[in-house]
Amino acid sequence: MSMKFRRIGVLTSGGDAPGMNAAVRAVTRTAIAHGVEVMGIYEGYKGLINENMKLFGDRDVSNIINLGGTILYSDRCLEFKTEEGMRKAIETCRKNMIDGIVAIGGDGTFRGATDLTARGIPTIGIPGTIDNDITSTDYSIGFDTAMNTVIQMVDRLRDTCESHARCNVVEVMGRNAGYIALETGIAVGATAIVLRECPFDEAAALEKIKALKATGKRNFIVIVAEGVENYSEGFAKKIQAETGIETKFARLAHVVRGGSPTLRDRLMAARMGEEAVNLLLDGKSNLVVCERDSKIVAMDITYGQMLDRMYKGTLKDGDLDRFSEAEIEDMKAFCKMRSDWFDKLYQVANTISN
Ligand code: F6P
Repeated sequence: MSMKFRRIGVLTSGGDAPGMNAAVRAVTRTAIAHGVEVMGIYEGYKGLINENMKLFGDRDVSNIINLGGTILYSDRCLEFKTEEGMRKAIETCRKNMIDGIVAIGGDGTFRGATDLTARGIPTIGIPGTIDNDITSTDYSIGFDTAMNTVIQMVDRLRDTCESHARCNVVEVMGRNAGYIALETGIAVGATAIVLRECPFDEAAALEKIKALKATGKRNFIVIVAEGVENYSEGFAKKIQAETGIETKFARLAHVVRGGSPTLRDRLMAARMGEEAVNLLLDGKSNLVVCERDSKIVAMDITYGQMLDRMYKGTLKDGDLDRFSEAEIEDMKAFCKMRSDWFDKLYQVANTISN
């Protein structure tokens, strides 16, 4: 292990996610175990610009493993994207002897990590977002807790739908990605799941609801991903108009961002937090810690970003120029595997949704 590290910083940035605290704790405890000091940086990258930080001891991260939100607070910092913001952030690091940073968050957080690394502050990212939309990793911290909250909420809606013979259309978060909607849709036994990623036959869904009603089914749950813009509320009205079933609408929104993290999120936070510090102290940087096939691995952040763009169809001209043919083929194969997995799950959902 390289001994040049005196102090590392840890921050949480972007949308908060349950389990971020468990990750902060794991990072802090691992660093201290290696004799490296830890600076807790508040409000994400903004804290680096404003020098809003505190030296953490073991006790500063006691009793936080079970807490939702993030004790370091979070922010989506626009100033950090400017040269001036970046200059201030680097100055703060130098002044406070911060030799490396672990940044916990999503896409935007990793962009910041690359910028810091490029300016001489090695940075490692940990995926923390309820959306699970970071292509490089099978899992991001917060996803499981958020989904369990959706399940709890929708199970309650189902109870009252059953009593009153109603339908409830429920919109769930996920930004542009439908992972939360797809997996919770299956878990709550939704009659229909509407996602951006897969075609949805609205007419067929309405016919299905009518046919199921005729068989005596009383409660209907429809899950819609928020990425399907301006759809859910109108669809609820349409269901009522076309099927005669009284239909309510619920947008769960930020309620699924809070709450005590589940076992899965705490465990993932512990494993990823420990790995992030080890990577940093081993002299690595610009990596994102990922879960792949149940193993904790690391991937170059820039490679991960391009993989993400490839998967989401947002690649720009020149994005792949720096990669070899073999790397590009690997990326394509990975994207195909991921979308095949997604399509298969959607097919399963539809097959068993009666
Ligand atoms: O990325 C997490 C997330 O909760 C998304 O699911 C959602 O689209 C977005 O953040 C909401 O952002 P904000 O907290 O800024 O309203």
